[in-house]
Amino acid sequence: MEICRTKAEIRAARAAMGTARVGLVPTMGYLHDGHLSLVRAARESCEKVIVTIFVNPTQFGPNEDLETYPRDEARDLALLEAEGVDTVFLPDPAEMYAADAETIVETTELSGVLIGAIRPGHFRGVATVVTKLFNITRPDAAFFGQKDYQQLCVIRRMVWDLDMDIDITGVPIRREEDGLAMSSRNVRLSEDQRAEAPALHQALLGGAGVLGQGGDVAAAETAIRARLEAARGSEIRSIDIRDAEDLSPVTGVPRRPVVMLLAVSFGDVFLIDNMVVPD
Ligand code: PAF
Repeated sequence: MEICRTKAEIRAARAAMGTARVGLVPTMGYLHDGHLSLVRAARESCEKVIVTIFVNPTQFGPNEDLETYPRDEARDLALLEAEGVDTVFLPDPAEMYAADAETIVETTELSGVLIGAIRPGHFRGVATVVTKLFNITRPDAAFFGQKDYQQLCVIRRMVWDLDMDIDITGVPIRREEDGLAMSSRNVRLSEDQRAEAPALHQALLGGAGVLGQGGDVAAAETAIRARLEAARGSEIRSIDIRDAEDLSPVTGVPRRPVVMLLAVSFGDVFLIDNMVVPD
């Protein structure tokens, strides 16, 4: 497995892949089984797989967890080697961003709603770094987790609007045995918070139950809120039920698939989860 730390190195590694179908898995490291399922999906449909590990500063707000975001490079590299990844790109921030950089990429509508309203500037940072990673690695396909549902919508929109010739695949959420969606941030939960955190998945199952029995969006939101409020130490940041395709608001009894999106904080640990109904 080749390890590249500079743009020059990764560009040379990519050039050596020639006309092979290249799959890209962008990550921020501290890999878990969810990330590895992205790598496996890439492996299945691509001849070469590039994984990037970069904790992107521009997608964190001033009071967010950039400094405390978990990192373990040696462990990540061992996991990727075992998965048969061809090349890993691990730039540092100075390699990725020139001090005088002034260009950004932003989906003007999608970036400001839902998580974008809670984390202003977050999706601008994501869209900009993903564009840069696409330009640097020139993949044929790229793989993202469905846990970051809005992120996936932003990236699909960006790829469509900017005519990027890259196939985007969303890979289903991986969950712990108790239903908690896998996330690098889970490691920062205290023992008590970890015990309460499966409430997100349980709340989603409750909401899905209401909608599955013909209930309306308001009733589903009420069921979700009740379960989340019962989780000790949690702060509900947002509960939204939106059109699964374009994230537009939905009221009444849904006629098309919807996605239930949750954001919940346990102390300074920000968790998200979602579920599409009907799946
Ligand atoms: O989902 C993530 O880990 C990040 O947002 C991404 C796509 C790697 C961009 O920094």
